[in-house]
Amino acid sequence: MTRLITAFTFVCLSTISIAHEGAEGVIKERMDRFKQNKEAMKSIKGNLSGDAAVIAQKASEIEAWANEMVNFFPEGSTQSPSEALPAIWKEFDRFTELANANAKAAGNLKTLAQSGADANALTNGFKALGKTCKDCHNDYKE
Ligand code: HEC
Repeated sequence: MTRLITAFTFVCLSTISIAHEGAEGVIKERMDRFKQNKEAMKSIKGNLSGDAAVIAQKASEIEAWANEMVNFFPEGSTQSPSEALPAIWKEFDRFTELANANAKAAGNLKTLAQSGADANALTNGFKALGKTCKDCHNDYKE
């Protein structure tokens, strides 16, 4: 009986957690990766006068994701709770260019961090990178 109740509870809990998570498959994957981007940007910001190795590592992660993100946007994948806008597929070339600009800015910041740049230069690199996130969100994210 206890086992039956446990199994029943488990099924109920799984259903609830699926309902809460909402996003599935490729949409969930890309949302998770973008959340990691946000965390990476936080770490970078906290290390502008700190550990350059952390900046290089996080910038490298952002660069890697920027280089593959367009593959995570199959046509029309805007199902709730995605915040992706249909304009992405009307202007996929521009969307791709913005992803490339994001990769390039992340690569620049990585190089700065690896070459012992001062906090001022790192801050400028960080801001330039942040702008490439915003440039894309302005037109392609709710
Ligand atoms: C080329 C376009 C593009 C670039 C560049 C880009 N994003 Fe996004 N981002 C999106 C889109 C589109 C979504 C919505 C994805 C979805 O909900 O399906 C998104 C979603 C997000 C989210 C919300 C994730 C969630 O569901 O909670 C965060 C946070 C985020 N991006 C951070 C960043 C950061 C930080 C950068 C830069 C380091 C960045 N993004 C660069 C297009 C971009």
